[in-house]
Amino acid sequence: MTASTSSSANTRGTLDRNLALEVVRVTEAAALACARLMGRGDRNAADEAAVQAMRRAFDGLQIRGVVVIGEGERDEAPMLYIGEKVGGGADHDPAVDIAVDPLEGTNLCALGLPNALAVVALAEQGNLLHAPDCYMDKIAVGPAAKGVCDLDKSPTANLKAIADAKACYVEDLTAVVLDRERHQKLIAEIRKAGARIKLISDGDVSAAISCTLEGTGIDVLFGSGGAPEGVLAAAALRCTGGDFLGRLIYRNDGERERALAMGVKELDRKWGLTDLAKGDVMFAATGVTSGDMLKGVRFFKGGAHTHSLVMRSKSGTIRFIECEHHFDRKPSYAP
Ligand code: FBP
Repeated sequence: MTASTSSSANTRGTLDRNLALEVVRVTEAAALACARLMGRGDRNAADEAAVQAMRRAFDGLQIRGVVVIGEGERDEAPMLYIGEKVGGGADHDPAVDIAVDPLEGTNLCALGLPNALAVVALAEQGNLLHAPDCYMDKIAVGPAAKGVCDLDKSPTANLKAIADAKACYVEDLTAVVLDRERHQKLIAEIRKAGARIKLISDGDVSAAISCTLEGTGIDVLFGSGGAPEGVLAAAALRCTGGDFLGRLIYRNDGERERALAMGVKELDRKWGLTDLAKGDVMFAATGVTSGDMLKGVRFFKGGAHTHSLVMRSKSGTIRFIECEHHFDRKPSYAP
C-alpha cells in the first residue's frame, strides 16, 4: 500500500485498520508536548500544550472527523471543542466520531505522578455516546468478569460475582477507586468485603484499562468519575474484551438539561459497553508519565522515547508501540 492510501481511505466508510497506526501519531504528539511540562505544577499549561499538539496532528489523518467528546463547548474551548471538525480527509474518507482527552490526568502531569495519558478513541459516525461533562458511576472489569456486575448491586455483591467468575477469593481481588470524599462509603464497604484497594488521585481511564490487561494486578474499577472519561474507557474496553458499566450522575438541573440537549434520552439509564461505544472502535493512548501499563515520555538530547497502546475492537489486537522520535527530522514534534 502506498503512503497516500495507507491512511484511512476506504470507500465502504468502515475504519481501515491502518488508521489505528496513524491515530497513535496524534496521541504521541500530545504526550510529547505536555510531558515537557511534567512536574511544573501548572496543569492548565500542560493541558493546553497537549491540546494544541493533538489538534495539529489531526490534520495529518485522512478522516472526516467530528469531536464528540472533547475539551468542552465551542465557547469555552478554542480547540478540540465538541462539534469541531478535524482531520484532513476528502469526501471518500471515513466520517468518524472522535473522543479525545489530550491530557487525561492534568494534575498527574503537573505533579509528575503516574498514569497521565494522551488518549483518542475513534468510531464510525453515531457510535459514541455524546456524554455531557457530568459525573458517571462506573464499574470496569476484565474479560474474565464480563457480564457479572451490576450498578444496582452492592460493591460486596459485585466483588463476590467477580471472585466467582475468576475462581478466586474476594481477598485476592484489587479494586481501584478514585480517592475522593464522595467515595468514603464505597471504600469502607470494599474494605469490609475483604478486597484490596488501590486509591488513585486521578486518572480513571488508565485505571479502567488496567482492569483488563494481564499483569497489572487490578481487577475492578468502582466509583464515579467524569462521564467523558467513561466513554473513552468504554471504547478501550471494547477493544480489550473487558466490560464497562456507567450511569450518569447529575449535580443539578443544568447538568440534566445539558444531557438532554446532547441527545441523552433516558437520563437515569444504565449504559453498557456497546451503548457507550458501538461498532468498530479504535483506541490509542500514549503515556505522559510512567504508570501501570505505559511508560511516560523520556527525553534525550534532540529527541524522546514514547510508549503507546493501540487497539481495535474488530481484531482485538492490543499493540504496544515504543517509538524513538528525533526532533531535527520531525520538527513538528519538537516541544
Ligand atoms: P483531568 O484530566 O481533567 O484533570 O481529569 C482527571 C480525572 O481524575 C479523571 O480521570 C476522572 O474521571 C475525573 O478527573 C474525576 O473527577 P474529579 O476530580 O472531579 O473527581
